[in-house]
Amino acid sequence: MKRVCVLPGDGIGPEVVSSAVKVLEAASDELEFVHADIGRTAYERHGSYLPGDTLKTMRECDSCLFGAVTTVESADYSSPVLTFRKELDLYANVRPVRNLVKISGRSPIDVVIVRENTEGMYTQNEVFDDIGVTTMRRVSRKASERIVGFAMRYARANGRRRITCVHKSNVLKASDGLFASTFRELMASGGIGLEADEQLVDSCALKLVTEPSAFDMIVTLNLYGDILSDVAAGVAGGLGFAPSGNIGDKHSVFEPAHGSAPDIAGRGVANPTAAILAGSMMLRHLGLSEDAGRIEGAVMQFYSSGHLTADLGGRHGSDSFTEHVLRNLRPGAQH
Ligand code: IPM
Ligand code: MG
Repeated sequence: MKRVCVLPGDGIGPEVVSSAVKVLEAASDELEFVHADIGRTAYERHGSYLPGDTLKTMRECDSCLFGAVTTVESADYSSPVLTFRKELDLYANVRPVRNLVKISGRSPIDVVIVRENTEGMYTQNEVFDDIGVTTMRRVSRKASERIVGFAMRYARANGRRRITCVHKSNVLKASDGLFASTFRELMASGGIGLEADEQLVDSCALKLVTEPSAFDMIVTLNLYGDILSDVAAGVAGGLGFAPSGNIGDKHSVFEPAHGSAPDIAGRGVANPTAAILAGSMMLRHLGLSEDAGRIEGAVMQFYSSGHLTADLGGRHGSDSFTEHVLRNLRPGAQH
């Protein structure tokens, strides 16, 4: 059995996560679930956005499924997402983006974005002086090697052939230059069978929109990966489809890439697709690929039969969508 720590969080987090847990329970009998508080809900109950007990449970479980948290405008707030990434050393952020629904006038996209998840612009070291604020941005050889190595292993394990390293070394010569040269070195020495490519981040953003098929896999620095994964998700039809995995050597946390969307919380219209696909990514990570494949099949079947969720102008809210996916999971339902 694998133990999964479930962190519903705020806004639509609890809605999409409860749908994902139902689907995971139906697809696999290898899982047991433990619930833990995070975000505003945790603050109200325990006085902390990421209580020590929650982190402890996250560490003890085989993996975690997280919903979303609402950012609080307050000086003492720091995102629990950034804290658990740091605390659990989740150095790789993996975001596979592809179309589930054909959108007329848009080119198909099928790209995996691997983002360095521990440093770069997220070092969060900002120094005030008389003139303004200086933000420190660390790019280390160790973290660059780790993320490029991860991307290469991921490409091999998942049948990806070309890795594009995305950076801005024409301006950030030393830091992004180090990231790019680390990529070149590792691909030259260990990248047999993989194609290495490079792109500046601005032209990558453009090309993701105009010619998304140019990309198979992207490996990039933290902030670029944050932005480019939203661009790619937009091309694929919106954040409602995009799952995300935060992966380290010991721990992992899977989440929908979207936020807590408080404006639609409690209305039953949130699209649980990204949370469910985050669950199937988690199963693959735990070695339960067959169960993961069945979940992906059941979700695809919903969309390929012409159904649409409310966020895409269709009539299926969260419950109706989940019912369809559960029905598609029953033996004999998939063809
Ligand atoms: C994401 C989010 C986070 C990030 C926020 C919530 C800190 O945008 O996971 O993409 O910037 O990494
Ligand atoms: Mg983001």
